[in-house]
Amino acid sequence: MNEVLKNIRTRRSVRGFTEKRIPEETVQAIVEAAVYAPSAMNRQSWHFTVVHNREKIERLAQAIGSQIGREGYDFYRPDMLILVAAERENQNGQLDSGCAMENIMLAAHSLGVGSVWVNQAKGICDEPAVREVLTEFGLPSTHVIWGIAALGYATEQPEEKPRAEGTVNYVE
Ligand SMILES: Cc1cc2nc3c(=O)[nH]c(=O)nc-3n(C[C@H](O)[C@H](O)[C@H](O)COP(=O)(O)O)c2cc1C
Repeated sequence: MNEVLKNIRTRRSVRGFTEKRIPEETVQAIVEAAVYAPSAMNRQSWHFTVVHNREKIERLAQAIGSQIGREGYDFYRPDMLILVAAERENQNGQLDSGCAMENIMLAAHSLGVGSVWVNQAKGICDEPAVREVLTEFGLPSTHVIWGIAALGYATEQPEEKPRAEGTVNYVE
């Protein structure tokens, strides 16, 4: 198995993070992987907000937690978030964002950084209390969030989740 396939095969969602800070060059490599994702018609209408500040992560977590009725919501306390958004008018924005999310998670894993997709901002990013924080973070009002990658060094490597059978059909 080559290194790319091995990286895909061994990535797991990480939901416990240490306090260790992700170094700047690693952050840059992960962001570069995001912007090199494919996008429909190469529109690249996405916007990536890299939140590498624990107080600001907590601020967003509080705004989202209040909105979804989850007191103490914390994104699993990661070192960094990448908010993946796309222009709300782009009908392929969600798909483009999914490609970027996967690139982020695979790039992170290849560099020893754990990640998990967090879905809690989807659908509520235009709620005024949440949007206020997003605007403060520089997210354009034209963009909606489709996914959040929570990133950091894993406290432990999670168990592999078995894959469902019968999801692949070969036609020869
Ligand atoms: C679209 C999408 C949304 C997800 N949302 C969440 C989430 O909100 N919280 C969470 O802990 N994991 C979330 N996950 C991670 C999945 O639970 C995880 O990928 C799945 O259980 C398989 O585990 P693995 O990633 O370790 O292979 C999401 C994954 C995807 C693709």
